Parts: sequence; C-alpha cells; structure tokens
Amino acid sequence: MSNMGTLFDMDLEDARRQHKKISDEIKHHDFLYYQNDAPEISDSKYDSLRKTLEKLETQYPVLKTADSPTQTVGSMPAKGFNKVKHAVPMLSLSNAFSEEDISDFLTRIRRFLGLSETDGIKIVAEPKIDGLSCSLRYESGKLVLAATRGDGQEGEDITRNVQSIDDIPKQLPESLLDVMPDVLEVRGEIYMGRHDFAALNKRQQEVGEKVFANPRNAAAGSVRQLDPSISVQRPLKMFAYGLETFGGLSHILTQHEKYELLREAGFRQPDFVEIFDDVSGLMAHHDMVLKERPVLDYDIDGMVYKVDDLTWQERLGFVSRAPRWAIAHKFPAERAVTILKDIDIQVGRTGALTPVAILEPVTVGGVVVSRATLHNEDEIERKGVRAGDYVEIQRAGDVIPQILRPLLEKRPPDSKPFVFPDHCKECGSLAIREEGEAVRRCTGGLICPAQAVERLKHFVSRDAFDIEGFGSKIVEQLFEKGILKSPADIFRLSDINETLSPPLQDLEGWGALSVRNLLAAINNRKTISLDRFIFALGIRHVGQATARRLAAFYGSFPRLEQQMMDAQTQENQAYQELLSIDDVGPAVADELAAFFAEPHNQTVLTDLLSFLDVEDYKMPERIDSQIAGKTVVFTGSLSSMTRAEAKARAESLGAKVSSSVSGKTNYLVAGEDGGSKLKKAKEAGVTILTEEEWAVLSR
Ligand code: IVH
Repeated sequence: MSNMGTLFDMDLEDARRQHKKISDEIKHHDFLYYQNDAPEISDSKYDSLRKTLEKLETQYPVLKTADSPTQTVGSMPAKGFNKVKHAVPMLSLSNAFSEEDISDFLTRIRRFLGLSETDGIKIVAEPKIDGLSCSLRYESGKLVLAATRGDGQEGEDITRNVQSIDDIPKQLPESLLDVMPDVLEVRGEIYMGRHDFAALNKRQQEVGEKVFANPRNAAAGSVRQLDPSISVQRPLKMFAYGLETFGGLSHILTQHEKYELLREAGFRQPDFVEIFDDVSGLMAHHDMVLKERPVLDYDIDGMVYKVDDLTWQERLGFVSRAPRWAIAHKFPAERAVTILKDIDIQVGRTGALTPVAILEPVTVGGVVVSRATLHNEDEIERKGVRAGDYVEIQRAGDVIPQILRPLLEKRPPDSKPFVFPDHCKECGSLAIREEGEAVRRCTGGLICPAQAVERLKHFVSRDAFDIEGFGSKIVEQLFEKGILKSPADIFRLSDINETLSPPLQDLEGWGALSVRNLLAAINNRKTISLDRFIFALGIRHVGQATARRLAAFYGSFPRLEQQMMDAQTQENQAYQELLSIDDVGPAVADELAAFFAEPHNQTVLTDLLSFLDVEDYKMPERIDSQIAGKTVVFTGSLSSMTRAEAKARAESLGAKVSSSVSGKTNYLVAGEDGGSKLKKAKEAGVTILTEEEWAVLSR
C-alpha cells in the first residue's frame, strides 16, 4: 500500500489494532468524565485523541463503524445512569395460575384480616402490562425524577429519557395541585405499542441496526439508551398502575379512587380495569380479556388483582418482596412439540443434581427454547421421558419451560429409559439421595468444581454482592482459567491481574475498558450490608428472607459468627435462640451451625473479611417507633387482629418477633389463654402487655 500523503504507515491489521486501542482509551475517558465525573486528562488531550481517531478513519474508512467513538460526536453520550433509592420500595407480585390459586389468595386475605366467609372483599382487576416499571416523582406538581425499578430498593435515574413520553405529564394540572399532596410518586409500566414496535424493527432492519425480539425488549432498550436523543426517536407509552402519597390524600380510600385521580391528572390506564367481589367474577373477566388479548395494541401477560380498600392494603402489608394485597393471575402457558435430544445433569451450588432437558430449539410464545427443567429423578420417572422422545413443552411468562409429556406414539423403537447417575460427573464423588429427599446430591462438597463455580455465581449475583457486569459467563471463564477459586479472589482480582500473562484485557471477549469497569464495580462493593453478606455466603436453606431475619436478630457479623460457633449442640442457649427466630427451624439451624464449624469456611471467611466492610444491620423504616429493636413474643389469641397481622405489623415497626421467651425478650403480648409462655415470661421478669397496651405502643 502506498503511504503517499497518508499520516499512518501501517497495514490494515495494525490500523485496526491502533483504532481499537485509541477507541478504548476514549471510551475509558468518557466513562470517567460522564459516569464518574472524574476526568483524568485535559480536554485538549482528549480532543487530540479524537482527532487521531478521525484521521485514522479517513485513511481506513472500513474502521468507521457505527460503534466508533467518532460516530457519537455531536450527540454527546449522556451521563451514565445515576442510582436512585426509591422512597417506597417497588415490589413485585406473586403469581397465580388457576381458579384455586385465586380462591386461596382471597382466603389468605380473609384469614389475615380476620374476616368471615360472608364479608365481601372488593377487588380491582386490571391487565398486567408486559413492559418495564418506572417510578415518577412529582414535587409541587412538577416531574422531578423518573427511575427504573432496579432491584426494587434502588433503580436508575431515567428522567432525561422519559421527557419524550407523552403519557408522562411533566407538570400536573393546576386544578389538582390543591387536592394532591406536595410530594407523590406515580408508578406505572412503560411499553411500546405493537404497531410502533413493528415499524421500529422495520426501520432498524433497513439501516442494518439491531432488531428487537419483542416489544418489551424494545421498550427496555429504548429507555436504557444512555443517549436521550435516541430515546426521543423511540415511540414509548405508559400506563399508570399505582400512586404513593406518603400519608397525604387522606380522603382517598380506595385503589379505584386513586385511578380516577390519576386519570384526571393526565395519566393513561389500560382497558378492562374493573371491580369484582368474588372469584367467579374475576375468572370470567380474566377469560374475557384473554380472548381480547390478540387485538390489543399492547402486550399483556395476565391480570393483576388488588384489594380495593386502602386501609386493608395497609394492614395486609407485604411479605419479602410482594404485597399480600395483590396478585398476578398469569395467562396460561403457551405450548409446543419438539425433540428431547438429551438429558444433561447440572450440579448446583449446594451439590443438588438437576436434570435438564436439551431440546431441539423451538419457538414457544415468541421465545426460542432449547432447554427445559426436569426438576429431579422422580420427575423423569413420573413423566416417563427418554432421550429421543418427541415431547410437549410449555412456557408460562418468565418461568423456565417445562416438559409436559412424551408423545409415546412417536417414540423411537430403540430408546432406553434414563438412568440417573449415582456419581457427580464434575468431580466423580458419590451422589446420594437421603431418605425422604427428592434431590440427589454430590457429596464432593468443597472439592467439587461445579459447586464452587455455582457458589461464586451466587456470590456476585444481584441479591448478593450485586457486582455489575460480573455475569455467569465471566465467573465461568475466570474459574476455568484458575484465576478465581474462592470469593476472596474477586477482591484480589486487580492484584492477580498484574501477575497474569496474558492479562485479562487480552483474553477473548475482554478489553482494557471492560477490565477497568469490572475492577471498578468490584471496588464499589467492598462495603456490604449484613443481610446481603449472609445471603451471599450461599448457605443451604438461607434465602434472602432468612438472611434478613438473621441480620436483624444478631445485628453484626462478629456476633452472628460467634453465636453460630456456639450453636453446635441442640441443647445449648445459642442454638435455642437461633431456633426462636421466625422461620428458622432445625434444618436451617443445623446448616448454619455446620457452615460456621467447617474449618475451610472459616479460612475463606477470614480471607474475605480482610477485604470487606460488613455493615451492622440497620433497622429499616420507623426507627422512631417505640418498639424498634425490641424482641416481642405473642401468646394466646388476639381479638383485634390475627397473629399473622400482629407479627407483620411489629416487624414493619422494626421489632424482632420471636416464637419463644428467652432472656432477650423485651415484651410478651398476652392475648386470651396465654399458657406456658406467659408463665415463663413472668418467671423471667419480661414486661407483659395486654393486647390493648400493645395496640397503643405499636400505633
Ligand atoms: S402492581 C405492589 N399492576 O408487574 C404492586 N404491576 O410482577 C406492584 N406490572 O414490577 C405492582 N402491570 O412492573 C402492578 N397493572 C399492574 C401491572 C404491574 C404490569 C408489572 C410491574 C411490576 C411487575 C410485578
């Protein structure tokens, strides 16, 4: 190639390398500047990098790809999204699939509130929109913040990206300012209409851009555009389904009145929002909407039922992440027939062997499915499926696809029943199934690589350490290369990388920028809340709710650890205290005690804690309440509320509810016929409250 009149004397391969290097550098500085507000180089240095890149592209036009930093000049990349903490958590919904589930939902509500069979419960039924939820904060009638749901506690600031959505009023009508509280949050679902989606995809295809799989992805992708000038070109809409008023609006007593107000304020709602007071009404409405579904311009994946009475909603509160006063009634799953090519066995974090069906890929309800769960050994036998069979599969919402049945008439003559392995294919250890257990487990424990890698995935996952960009694939890659062995290695990654050859940035799929971002994300997570830390340890039976309860009970990690070390025999005080925590039965207690007693785990913990700051547990909500931090035991029957409601209320005020009286009990609330707990509390000198006294204290 002639280099006359050219600035760079290199072949295309060299040019490509040079281009990548400068692009990465620019992206890195963009990241520092826009996301971290912390530039490392002067503006003129930055400009000269850009100029060099432009010149390189003039000489080698093939390098001028759509994702080159030169193509973003003019439409400056927006700031990375800021995190915002939700004033009221954004909850999810539990699912129901049948008439029985709906009837159970109503029964649970009746039981919780202490209502009789004949007391009517008004329920608002409305479509469940398949989009992405957002929270809109208004102050003195002005939209001041729009945020995504995120993990429910914390989302991302998308205020700039929703400016072009007409369904989102930027200013509430003057006429309502007097009736509305000063601060309020509207919750809703952003979606893309089906027609707009089809048109967008057509345009994208024409210009050789990414085509979206469904309207939901298109909506999510559009909102999450860092560059708001792109969101503007994407036709998005919103339906409102919730309103948080922070105690204001006392004259509004029902969910349907909230909706009337929202409509007056200029928000849109989907069709088919109606009130019913029995299961048959809800079912008929559900079936009718299901029939109408194909002609709607928005995707829906079920109905949502909400208790209309707001005082009841308040009393019902929520469990873990979902309200007790609402439920999603999902539409029936879509089905398809395909070939079961093979049955693979996966080894989970706790050693459980789970059979997975490997399928000939098939489209079910708009999604390509190539794997399905088979749950366990018995399930394979019950369903009678064999490799080679034609099988009917189904997929409901986001749920992992299931195998329904084999088509026996099409079974190949030479097929054989599946034999469940009795050894772990990953580490060769014996896999045993304990009496009464459905699951067969690998006994390899700490030596089993499959368990180790799953534990690491769990450790960095969203509800645990939540390290951004640290997905399953990366964990697998780093584990296979022997770079990551134990959780503490994650926090050593930066040092480890210095000694690697080749370093991470030169590995397949990596670059300088992605390594820097990952290391920054890891660094960001060196301080962690106690409940997340406990959950991250991946102890069997210790899910998020239990982790939170343990954190609330023990308060700090050193205390938890000490108590677990002390809880080695069932008779001793520490073990008994552990059992007194709500939801902690002997199975959970034994796992916890065994986990902390294991010397290897102790080594890992010491190593890990040398990098971390595990925060003491902070009582959420109402720290001002008189019972925050107190341990309460209920006994006897209460007359004004059910035991479940009393317990939920105490917890929401920051109290710990325990099922047995111990030295730590502050109050015993005694209803009718207190029994042995009352006696024990009297002996222990615990403050005993009548139901009325308790009601005053917990107001
Ligand atoms: S109510 C506490 N109503 O479904 C109540 N949610 O699975 C929480 N969604 O994150 C939500 N349509 O994004 C509600 N009519 C509707 C909805 C709806 C769609 C989404 C929402 C939520 C998710 C929960």
